[in-house]
Amino acid sequence: MMISKEKIEEVRLRANIVQVISEYVPLKKRGANYTGLCPFHSEKTPSFSVSEEKNMFYCFGCNAAGSAITFVMKKDGLSFPDAVRSLAARFGVTITEEKKGARDFKDSLYSINQAASEFFINELKGAGGKFARDYLAKRGYADTPEILKAFGAGYAPDRWDGLVIYLKRKGFKPELAEKAGLVVKKKDGGDYDRFRGRLIFPIADLKGRVIAFGGRSLGEAMPKYLNSPETAVFKKGETLYGMPLAKEAIGKQGFAIIVEGYFDLMALHRHGFTNSVATMGTALTPEHIKLLKGYASSAYALFDADDAGKRAAMRSLELFLDEDMPARAIVLPGAKDPDEFLSNHGAPAMKKAVDEADPLMEFCLREIQKKFQLSKPEGKKSYLDAVIPYLKRVKNVAERGHYAAFVAPILGIPIDAVYQAIGHAGLSSASGALRRGHVSTGTNLQEMTVLKVIVRHPELYSPDVQSAIDAFTDPLLKEAGKVVSAFYREGRAIDLSRLVEEIDDEGLKGLVAGTLFKDGDGFIEAPEKMLKDCLKKILNRGKLKMSTQDMIRSLEESGMGDIADKMRERSHKKGSTGKS
Ligand code: UTP
Ligand code: MN
Repeated sequence: MMISKEKIEEVRLRANIVQVISEYVPLKKRGANYTGLCPFHSEKTPSFSVSEEKNMFYCFGCNAAGSAITFVMKKDGLSFPDAVRSLAARFGVTITEEKKGARDFKDSLYSINQAASEFFINELKGAGGKFARDYLAKRGYADTPEILKAFGAGYAPDRWDGLVIYLKRKGFKPELAEKAGLVVKKKDGGDYDRFRGRLIFPIADLKGRVIAFGGRSLGEAMPKYLNSPETAVFKKGETLYGMPLAKEAIGKQGFAIIVEGYFDLMALHRHGFTNSVATMGTALTPEHIKLLKGYASSAYALFDADDAGKRAAMRSLELFLDEDMPARAIVLPGAKDPDEFLSNHGAPAMKKAVDEADPLMEFCLREIQKKFQLSKPEGKKSYLDAVIPYLKRVKNVAERGHYAAFVAPILGIPIDAVYQAIGHAGLSSASGALRRGHVSTGTNLQEMTVLKVIVRHPELYSPDVQSAIDAFTDPLLKEAGKVVSAFYREGRAIDLSRLVEEIDDEGLKGLVAGTLFKDGDGFIEAPEKMLKDCLKKILNRGKLKMSTQDMIRSLEESGMGDIADKMRERSHKKGSTGKS
């Protein structure tokens, strides 16, 4: 089952990306790169680029990006390990599959987690668990022992060695308890309980085996929720909390409800929405969706009504489109989260919200619509540019037609015109749209430049660079900056193909790849000066009032020469009237 990190590195190193991609796409050498027609969107002129040196591909048309491994995953519809295996076979890397020892190790993790879960459940019932029981009562779980039992709710006593002692008595080795993330090793060699004074939710896999725990603090202790670290049996991005409890109902009803929190999930199940699962606070991943696809034909995602919730909705739309899973968005008005909504309004209101949920795409199209002034031609153009990348990704023609018909009246144009725009959205609008608004202003060009320079010149990364990244105003660029600086802070050299592989968000992946892929932008000749100038501007933002000359210069640098000319003209006029 498992492939070691070293083997993956070896495959990465040995798989020649040009060779791999050539088997699917005819490539022509153009300068340092190879180009061809993009296999991920339809186009007539090549905007798909492969760099042998960077070991990655990037499409300027649809922003698809990645390594040889990602390419094979996308093209052959394989999982990451299967893509690695396929490339390994092709490039003669022998992969030793997980040995019997590893299987035994996993089994021992399941059993120690099971033992720990039993310990926590007992503690919740015992004298020491009164505080936790009172807490549950306050949250409305005084008279519902069934639901607590179904979820395996427990309590970790507020002491350092409750579980340590219990596990020892049960004959588990301290090393195993550590590897399971249940206890933490002290510097002096002793162990202490990871979970202390917390309400415990066991996290189980599809087969119902306990693989991890989430513990809610009952007082001031931070963080509010402490989770088990990732282990050989627990990967947060591949686990949906509550899946073993929900899978049957999901299968029967054909759809799944997705929420974020532990208590949100418990509340939904308690109110009869047993086809619900939770992401445990992390962003939805393609693996989550793949997991659901085994049971559900569609998903209903519950989002918070705030900006963060809206952003999460937009991000998840891309994932659902890529996985070709129909999704609906539920935004609950007047409540912080589903748990609060259910206690305030009850199950019927939730049922209504579910029944009336709009397709996620419509929700997102409406959100995008709010950003532009559609009474103006520029606004219409920007709106169309922004929605096309999404429309293009709708794989089903009937569905695509539905959304084309949704967009057309907003723009006051015939549906055919929308179709035409989708068809012709090659290089300029599709890639532009995902990035438009990110690179169009002067400040963001500076932010972009900082990223470009430090990626190519790691030696120039400094605390000043970090402060500038922290001060980035463009959210996507800031995210990208964080990813890049994390590499440096961990003392890793930037490996472009690794970098794009590690970014989950497709939009961000495209942005970063697009930023980094283009060579010869001219400025590389004086990277240090370029960086210094940009840092100064970013760090001084808002502090300094720019002189007119500076403003003109920065407008010119940002490609807004025409505005710069107007300003220059005006300042001349002012100057001359002043003199006369
Ligand atoms: P929230 O902060 O929205 O909390 O985190 P919540 O679910 O409403 O928690 P309650 O109702 O106050 O008990 C949403 C989810 O994010 C994860 C948890 O899965 C949580 O349920 N999370 C949150 C963590 O893993 N760690 C944290 O410190 C906070
Ligand atoms: Mn809550």
